[in-house]
Amino acid sequence: MTAAVKTSPNLASRLVNGILAIKPLANLAKHQARQMMMKRAERLGVHWMQEVEKLQARDWQRELTQVQNPQLAYPEYYLRTFHAYDAGNLGWKPALELEVAARTVHAGIWPDAGAQGDAKLRQSYHDILTAQIPQPPQDILDLACGVGLSTFALQATYPQAKITGLDLSPYFLAVAQYRAQQHQAKINWVHATAESTGLADASFDLVSIFLLFHELPQSVAHQIFAEIRRLLRPGGHLAIMDMNPKSEIYKKMPPYIFTLLKSTEPYLDEYFTLDIEQAIIKAGFQTPTITSNSPRHRTVIAQVSG
Ligand SMILES: C[S@@+](CC[C@H](N)C(=O)[O-])C[C@H]1O[C@@H](n2cnc3c(N)ncnc32)[C@H](O)[C@@H]1O
Repeated sequence: MTAAVKTSPNLASRLVNGILAIKPLANLAKHQARQMMMKRAERLGVHWMQEVEKLQARDWQRELTQVQNPQLAYPEYYLRTFHAYDAGNLGWKPALELEVAARTVHAGIWPDAGAQGDAKLRQSYHDILTAQIPQPPQDILDLACGVGLSTFALQATYPQAKITGLDLSPYFLAVAQYRAQQHQAKINWVHATAESTGLADASFDLVSIFLLFHELPQSVAHQIFAEIRRLLRPGGHLAIMDMNPKSEIYKKMPPYIFTLLKSTEPYLDEYFTLDIEQAIIKAGFQTPTITSNSPRHRTVIAQVSG
């Protein structure tokens, strides 16, 4: 078990839970948190409003039609509120705000990095990938690629590779498609679930997953490990970058702050209690390496066994 945060509700947590249970108060709290985040962005030099308004002014229908699979049925667990967006990941607002939100949220990881924190986080992961995977992968799948931030970072590290980005939100994929056109990047975007991708057996050397697992129920995490095992060629690698439940930051986090965090991340308890090492081994991988790559994140790398 990797559980590290004290989750027993104390008075402050019960108070936070009580406030969050009353819809108008919860909405007010969300509104305040959002205002604070946007102000923080401006202080950091991230022009939140300006960048989002520019994206909002576009007509997205062409990109949406190009990437969307209209037959896809969304699993129940995905239809929850995430990150204080009522539509969760299924809306334009989260899609158009993801880039500025990532730069703002990750600015706090290293005190001296400021708005470069997001780029530094991605680089810290890629440094571990290149150090631990000796042979550069030729076919890479970026599972849960969002608007493509993790996909373009992989392409910069492995410019020779053929890269596929897969996500369950067509809105995120539409933004990814637009950014790919802007960068003249050739990426294959796939609209599917990570647990049932529809992609061919043994078609990748590396499956990379950046900031997905904390958004999943444990049962789905297990299904995804099995799916990744199916997708990887012999000798292929699985690489995961996500929150590190064993980091001092989460160990020392006051329970009421963790409760607030859980109000924006509905499956955080399940992620924090997932034994990721055993789950990976059970799915047919060798024992993974687990390396801390930021004060609060870890990189998990495992090779297909046999
Ligand atoms: C925090 S974002 C990370 C996006 C991206 N990897 C990045 O580095 O910016 C998590 C992503 O996981 C996607 N996601 C969540 N559950 C999924 C699932 N079952 N299958 C595919 N994508 C999923 C969401 O739509 C969202 O784009």
